[in-house]
Amino acid sequence: MKPLVIGIAGGTGSGKTTLTRALVASFDEHVSVVYHDNYYKRRDDLNYDERALLNYDAPEAFDNELLIQHLDQLARGVSIECPVYDYADHNRSDETLTIDSQPIVIVEGILLFAEDEICARCDIKLFVDTDADVRILRRIKRDVLERGRSVESVESQYLSTVKPMHELYVEPSKRRADLIVPEGGGNLVALDMLVHRINRQLETAG
Ligand code: C5P
Repeated sequence: MKPLVIGIAGGTGSGKTTLTRALVASFDEHVSVVYHDNYYKRRDDLNYDERALLNYDAPEAFDNELLIQHLDQLARGVSIECPVYDYADHNRSDETLTIDSQPIVIVEGILLFAEDEICARCDIKLFVDTDADVRILRRIKRDVLERGRSVESVESQYLSTVKPMHELYVEPSKRRADLIVPEGGGNLVALDMLVHRINRQLETAG
């Protein structure tokens, strides 16, 4: 049986990962999770300072060809060797992660719906919609605590690329979603409805 592919997109700090984790908790081990962030292009051609200045919020920053190939593999029931991205180094690490194909595949990332070929592979497209002020507050906290950044670097990156690219690519891609989920994983009504819908689809397919 072909897995059910759920795409979860939305701006940085919107709550995509919380929603993903809540769905994983609901479906136990029957979910493969693929993070688009792990498919940022390898940039060994640049030094650290040059990599730190790149625009990571435009579709060209990602190796979408590899992600599409991996989604197709999972759809055929074949495991993938997923790249692992190192945010502190702004580059792909040498590690890979084996992800087995499960009946539910969740693919998560800011710019998934900006790419036709990725949209075409998602059976259900969810867009997590959260106000920009809430998102930037979360982003500052996360990038400083977990991604080795200073408050100043988060501020300058936000103003130079994150915000303009959100407005140019992420926000318009919301139109391609099947469902808009305000506040992501904290939205228990939406989560409950999604779990029922996914269960029904799995039962029908099974
Ligand atoms: O988890 P989240 O959806 O926020 O991850 C996407 C964000 O990661 C992008 O907005 C991008 O600016 C950021 N990023 C970064 N440094 C990198 C790669 C991505 O700050 N080297």
